[in-house]
Amino acid sequence: MAQRVLVTGSAGRIGRAAVAAIAARGHTVVGLDIRPSPGLPPAQVFVASLLEQDKLSAAISGADCLVHLGATPDDAVYPRPAPPGDVDNFEDELVPNNIVGAYRVMEAARKAGVKKLVLASSGQVIVGHRKAGNIPVRAEVSYAPRYLYACTKVFLEQLGQVYAAHYGTKVIAVRLGWCPRNPGQVAELTANPDDQDVYLSPSDAGRFFVCAVDAAVDRLPPFAPVYVTSRPLARERYDLGPARDLVGYEPQDCWPTDAGTF
Ligand SMILES: NC(=O)c1ccc[n+]([C@@H]2O[C@H](COP(=O)([O-])OP(=O)(O)OC[C@H]3O[C@@H](n4cnc5c(N)ncnc54)[C@H](O)[C@@H]3O)[C@@H](O)[C@H]2O)c1
Repeated sequence: MAQRVLVTGSAGRIGRAAVAAIAARGHTVVGLDIRPSPGLPPAQVFVASLLEQDKLSAAISGADCLVHLGATPDDAVYPRPAPPGDVDNFEDELVPNNIVGAYRVMEAARKAGVKKLVLASSGQVIVGHRKAGNIPVRAEVSYAPRYLYACTKVFLEQLGQVYAAHYGTKVIAVRLGWCPRNPGQVAELTANPDDQDVYLSPSDAGRFFVCAVDAAVDRLPPFAPVYVTSRPLARERYDLGPARDLVGYEPQDCWPTDAGTF
């Protein structure tokens, strides 16, 4: 059945792919981003921040599902200094966009009666396990975040658990693989064969979000962390089983399909 879906971060690298795929599936997509979102009728676009309460409430009104991608992503090159020298702009970008923004959007969803939230987390919340060679990393492992950006995604997941536990909202926290946003990140991936196994193509990202939107709410557990990448070239670094079992996600691409198509 056609649903109304709010996609935050709809102008972004993954947001554009998610919007196109969900709309192509026949759902009504509303986009919210601080930048103009291409590919949507003007009446379905909110050029606004997650922190603008009135516009966020208007955007989410009547939504069946929230796909929350709006955030400051991780653009740092590794290795990099740990806090306090971490290059992330924690107080001016990560806190408002990734922490306050996550709270505001979940609160708006609760007030609007949205039944399903799909939250963009990151493999970086458990990357310590991957770097220690304990692969494929399972969904239920303890958090092992890297740097401040990853800590904001731990917060996002844990806030999702709170809403699932207290309000009966179904929450999928999707730990996304690496979908490069610029030529520099493509070069980083090209130089690091291990990371190529966690590459996520824009089309596979879109494919996953369609599966998540289509998933029947009453068949979902309250809170589910899942990993989403394209097909690994050499070894499965993240356990792709939960995304397959829960929503029927099957990746079709592998590195470097569409990596440089921005
Ligand atoms: N691309 C990856 O490799 C990757 C991996 C893991 C997780 N993620 C997560 O997936 C999501 C999308 O990432 P992306 O690669 O498309 O990044 P992106 O930067 O291309 O897109 C993020 C979008 O969010 C918007 N945004 C930021 N703050 C906002 C605010 N306060 N209000 C409204 N909009 C705001 C930006 O304008 C941008 O268009 C992010 O949450 C990111 O942390 C991405």
